[in-house]
Amino acid sequence: MTMNEGIQPKSQNLGTQMLENRANNAYVLNTLEQLGRLPQDFDGNWLLEFLNNESSTIRFLAVKNLGKLKNDAFLVCLTQVAKNDPDTNVRREAVSAIGRMRKPDTKKILFAKLKDSDPKVVCQAIRGLLVFKGETEVDKKLSSLIEHPNEMVVQVIRKEYFSEKNNVTKQPHTESYDYLKNVVVNGDTIETMKLLQDESIHLTFTSPPYYNARDYSIYPSYKAYLEFLRDVFSEVYRITKEGRFLLLNTSPVIVPRVSRSHSSKRYPIPFDIHHYLMEIGWEFIDDIVWEKPEASVKNRIGGFQQHRKPLGYKPNPVTEYVMVYRKATEKLLDWNIHQYDKNIINDSKVGDNFESTNIWKIDPCFNKVHSAVFPAELCKRVIEYYSYKGDLIFEPFGGSGTVAKSTKSLGRYFFLTEKDEKYFSYIKEKITTDLDDKFPPRFLSVDEFKGEIK
Ligand SMILES: C[S@@+](CC[C@H](N)C(=O)[O-])C[C@H]1O[C@@H](n2cnc3c(N)ncnc32)[C@H](O)[C@@H]1O
Repeated sequence: MTMNEGIQPKSQNLGTQMLENRANNAYVLNTLEQLGRLPQDFDGNWLLEFLNNESSTIRFLAVKNLGKLKNDAFLVCLTQVAKNDPDTNVRREAVSAIGRMRKPDTKKILFAKLKDSDPKVVCQAIRGLLVFKGETEVDKKLSSLIEHPNEMVVQVIRKEYFSEKNNVTKQPHTESYDYLKNVVVNGDTIETMKLLQDESIHLTFTSPPYYNARDYSIYPSYKAYLEFLRDVFSEVYRITKEGRFLLLNTSPVIVPRVSRSHSSKRYPIPFDIHHYLMEIGWEFIDDIVWEKPEASVKNRIGGFQQHRKPLGYKPNPVTEYVMVYRKATEKLLDWNIHQYDKNIINDSKVGDNFESTNIWKIDPCFNKVHSAVFPAELCKRVIEYYSYKGDLIFEPFGGSGTVAKSTKSLGRYFFLTEKDEKYFSYIKEKITTDLDDKFPPRFLSVDEFKGEIK
């Protein structure tokens, strides 16, 4: 007999074949995997034999196929599996099978599974119980899980029982206020952001000042620096539209040693700021590594090269991070996408040569006026991958205005803040007005900007 002969569910003797071949794990596995849809009159009793198989994959598939039958004759067996199987995936599948029966007498069993040690099993039990949402006992038990220690469980319960249904946004998701379009404000970013309404922007891409590494980035302490960034990204969170993104370019920085009897100090900015972002409520999405062809600190390895003594190894850094975060929402990404008109979705589609890994090899860019500028290619990718045409892109630390330049050429709008007069004037010089600009660039002081806000 070939392996596939037994895969016809209608075959009368499938159960007999399976039991005869029960010792042949490969055969059993393959058959169970390929069972597909099962007819209503399918006799699943032989599947019970495999609930005690030593292979957890076989047990899982046996449960999965029993689940397809939605037959409460198997409730007792499935309850035993849900309670006792040592493999958490098998337990979860058993809970799923019980839930699929949608029968009132499954409630008690599912209530018990709300106490499972694996949060995935708990979530599955919640799913089964939500069929009975509205019943007092079910609602009481489920809503009390808002105190559950696991964040996935809390997220599901919050969405079902505690979501703020009345947070009506004043503006359609795809739109942004005209007074923000193609504007650069010369001022402190937090002060300026405070003037903006909630949910004003679609995307933020920024590289904050690097702690005490340049003239424009001197802070009294690392803690004060991180707290400043926390305040910036809390405001960014508030003004970001639901479910939209923040891309943050940082890397560890070295502050040179005071003297030869001290060591230099390396500050892990991306890792420290991450913790604050999570506290604010940003959802972590991705860590993109920007790889440069040459090291930013050229001879960090120099000492080691000479002495070759372990512990003294200090590689030349050739990477920076582009961390990707999303403003928390109960809605799926599809919701964000489907807010847009079909034509905008089509026009915004990314071309064939997109980067498919999280390592982006991009040459750095040098600028006579500003010492830390984004390469245009980096901006282009971020804007193309994380926004739609007509979106408003925000850069709180405007610098030389690279984000504005890219945004303009990609059919999006920009809004920038830059504190330093010198860099503000540089952006003004570089950003040109085209005759057909519907929103010609405007360069404003904070006071002028206040006057523009409607
Ligand atoms: C790393 S640079 C950004 C460079 C920019 N991404 C580019 O491509 O040119 C950081 C910039 O933030 C500005 N900056 C620092 N603190 C600021 C604040 N509180 N508000 C606004 N801008 C600030 C600095 O003057 C500096 O130009």
